[in-house]
Amino acid sequence: MENPIDGGEFVYLSGFGNHFSSEALAGALPVAQNSPLVCPYGLYAEQISGTSFTSPRNRNLFSWFYRIKPSVTHEPFKPRVPGNGRILSEFNNSNSSANPTQLRWKPLDAPDSPTDFIDGLSTVCGSGSSFMRHGYAIHMYTANKSMDNCAFCNADGDFLIVPQQGRLLVTTECGRLKVSPGEIAILPQGFRFSVNLPDGPSRGYVAEIFGTHFQLPDLGPIGANGLASPRDFLVPTAWFEDKSYPGYTIVQKFGGELFDAVQDFSPFNVVAWHGNYVPYMYDLNKFCPYNTVLFDHSDPSINTVLTAPTDKPGVALLDFVIFPPRWLVAEHTFRPPYYHRNCMSEFMGLIHGGYEAKADGFLPGGASLHSCMTPHGPDTKSYEATIARGNDVGPCKITDTMAFMFESSLIPRISQWASESPFLDQDYYQCWIGLKSHFAVTKTSPENPSLGNGD
Ligand SMILES: [Fe+2]
Repeated sequence: MENPIDGGEFVYLSGFGNHFSSEALAGALPVAQNSPLVCPYGLYAEQISGTSFTSPRNRNLFSWFYRIKPSVTHEPFKPRVPGNGRILSEFNNSNSSANPTQLRWKPLDAPDSPTDFIDGLSTVCGSGSSFMRHGYAIHMYTANKSMDNCAFCNADGDFLIVPQQGRLLVTTECGRLKVSPGEIAILPQGFRFSVNLPDGPSRGYVAEIFGTHFQLPDLGPIGANGLASPRDFLVPTAWFEDKSYPGYTIVQKFGGELFDAVQDFSPFNVVAWHGNYVPYMYDLNKFCPYNTVLFDHSDPSINTVLTAPTDKPGVALLDFVIFPPRWLVAEHTFRPPYYHRNCMSEFMGLIHGGYEAKADGFLPGGASLHSCMTPHGPDTKSYEATIARGNDVGPCKITDTMAFMFESSLIPRISQWASESPFLDQDYYQCWIGLKSHFAVTKTSPENPSLGNGD
């Protein structure tokens, strides 16, 4: 057993990609084999595979559960009524649109009626297909009610959840996680989990990836240390309940549609488990950012927390990048992000505080999308304020901020829900319209007197 980490209410294990072991009852884990004829305490052995059986060993993900009843013990799946038609897992011109415009959304309001995490999910954009095992979806959630007598199981992909308002108590088959705004949780494909909302109205962001899993980015010349440290990732410890739950419902997301299966017991009946395919969480405040220390602006990839790779080296299906509090020290440099166009597509969110490139309009709980080759950069106010401060600003610290980006090599299509949302900021483009020409031949080319201004 690994040394447990005291997480306050819950106890965690630490590490990224470890082969963990945990048991809620001493002796519940079989010794020296996975499938004994009879498991300790009469438990059932059940494996969950997150990669194909034959994936290379360094990418092979699986865990073994030792549970009171196996997860197969349920009535047939039936379409959930009502479903959630705002969830997409396959993006085409019948359910989503192409739009190269810079898009921004204001923060979502709390729901008017009782809404749990499942019913509160809405897809903003995405690309590819969960059926083809290649692509991603970006969702936002707004909920005001804990999941009641039901668990969610996403057969389509992994969820990376970014709470922005309200903590999430996430019960999983491996144990429980308490995730606060400023922390993230990863719920891998296929895990059954339930979300409770101890703070009431809650909202946040979800990146879902199809066909691969998140890993730590290579550090290259940075070396062995820096960015997200493996030891800061927390994994739940075994926790189980042995209760009768008449009418308990497993809500399975399969191809973007929801299906219900009824059983009479809690799915959180795993007394012991071992494996490297696990839910986990991470506190973004533990991220060790790197940046320029002399001049110019680093590319945002320098702050990658987790990456979901494609088969092309260095090309991500989806990167999760953060913009945390940090010192700015660059000399004779325009310090906010540079203006640019990118072959990758960038979805941004803000957990708290402000964002250095937008003086107005990009609010905590809001979002923006700058798709492939769509120009973007600091708004007029941010540009003018930066120029006005001049060269003598000295080192300064950006505080009270935590912005993030989901960046993908696949071009997103926009869901109908997001295109027609009342929270879509119709005036977003205005933030750049005021950028004026500062072109002045005499000032920028003093060495060439022939380029006078005609005076
Ligand atoms: Fe960008």
